Amino acid sequence: MGRPKKIKQEVKQKIKQKLILPVRGMEDILSQDEKYWDYLLFFSEKYARAFGFKKIETPVLERTELFVRGIGVNSDIVSKEMFSFQDRGGDNLTLRPEWTAGIIRAYIQHGMLNLPQPVKVYSFGPLFRHERPQAGRWRQFHQVNFEVIGNRQPVIDAQIVSCAWKILQKLGLKNIEVQINSIGCGICRPAYVQVFLDFLAKRRLRLCDDCKKRLKKNPLRVLDCKREKCQIILSEAPQIIDHLCDNCHQHFKQVLEYLDEVEIVYNLNPKLVRGLDYYTKTVFEIWQKDDIKGKVALGSGGRYDDLVELLGGKKTYACGIALGVERIIEQIKKQNILMPEKRKADVLFIQLGELAKKKALKHIYDLIENDINVCEIFHKDSIKTQLGIANSLKVKFVVILGQKEVLDGTILIRDMTTGVQEIINIEKLIPELKKRLNHS
Ligand code: HAM
Repeated sequence: MGRPKKIKQEVKQKIKQKLILPVRGMEDILSQDEKYWDYLLFFSEKYARAFGFKKIETPVLERTELFVRGIGVNSDIVSKEMFSFQDRGGDNLTLRPEWTAGIIRAYIQHGMLNLPQPVKVYSFGPLFRHERPQAGRWRQFHQVNFEVIGNRQPVIDAQIVSCAWKILQKLGLKNIEVQINSIGCGICRPAYVQVFLDFLAKRRLRLCDDCKKRLKKNPLRVLDCKREKCQIILSEAPQIIDHLCDNCHQHFKQVLEYLDEVEIVYNLNPKLVRGLDYYTKTVFEIWQKDDIKGKVALGSGGRYDDLVELLGGKKTYACGIALGVERIIEQIKKQNILMPEKRKADVLFIQLGELAKKKALKHIYDLIENDINVCEIFHKDSIKTQLGIANSLKVKFVVILGQKEVLDGTILIRDMTTGVQEIINIEKLIPELKKRLNHS
């Protein structure tokens, strides 16, 4: 008989009071989700390797100045969302809110400019943003990030977008679409911003309060406003695409042609400007249509031809994208996409008695080192239980080591399909298993 309900609740309450909960917006990643993470990383790695990307890791903590200069002082990330603090030595540090700035710092610092260009790097790891916790926004989240540094050709932009698209497609996600725009360069953008400001000047009073502030600090971000009254005004606004210089126009045209060749469906979105200040020319997001949230950006990026210089290096062209891992996994679950089963063990090693348990560990290492997919259940002792588990694991063979076998230098192999078992010399265990597994 269980405890009465009231006592149970009291016990639960006590445990809750003692438990130190995680920081809001930061979550544990539990074993039941391993299959999703593995699957996403498998495809990311597959395409990364195929296109010659090499792995790079940068520290989780960087100097705050790096992000302020790189992402832009007026961006939402820098002005509202960074986890920043002063350390015991008085240095201003920030938990990285994105990969790109840190990677470019590393590129400059380690003289990667002297390597054959472009330098193609990819990364996977946690990022931190103090955003308002809501669906699809975590304060600790993960990105798979790709950067191509040191090449100006439009094919690179297309490669980056299509690579991210293919990864999402391989995962089985439905209803994803690429949103793409060009926001020009240091030559054509200022002229467009002036045209845009002139257009808004007469309509300023009808804009929302946030957009009025954006007008002063970062006018292009007005284009991003989701409020209906601003949307109505923006529907008549001049589009940056009509104000690109020849160079940016040609570049964008070619990016789209490359995307057409690989049959990527894209939507030209004149309002896409991105919230980080370092972008030039092509910007893109990959959206998932979502019944409840409307659109969710599963990945975003663009070209950033001025960032290396801005962070103290020489003029270097670059382009990249980051995929939001938690958001992708959320969509995989929502769409009920089945993950492939993990490769199961072929052999279960059963041990009976103290002496056999002592010897078993060494034999198991020998099997692992010979690429035999083996598992064990050291926490169970009875033969019946261990055989029962072998059945439920659906292993092809069990090997059984008891006291007698240890003393005789033998081991028993049982074929779980036929039930036939045989005692063999322990020295023959590995070749025998290999032979049988090859034939099974
Ligand atoms: P971003 O748009 O800030 O770009 O983030 C990229 C992706 O990370 C988003 O599309 C989204 O899927 C995911 N993400 C962003 N914030 C959160 C959050 N709070 N919770 C969960 N997921 C989130 C960048 O970070 C750029 N560094 C991308 C880039 C790489 N540009 C060039 N190279």
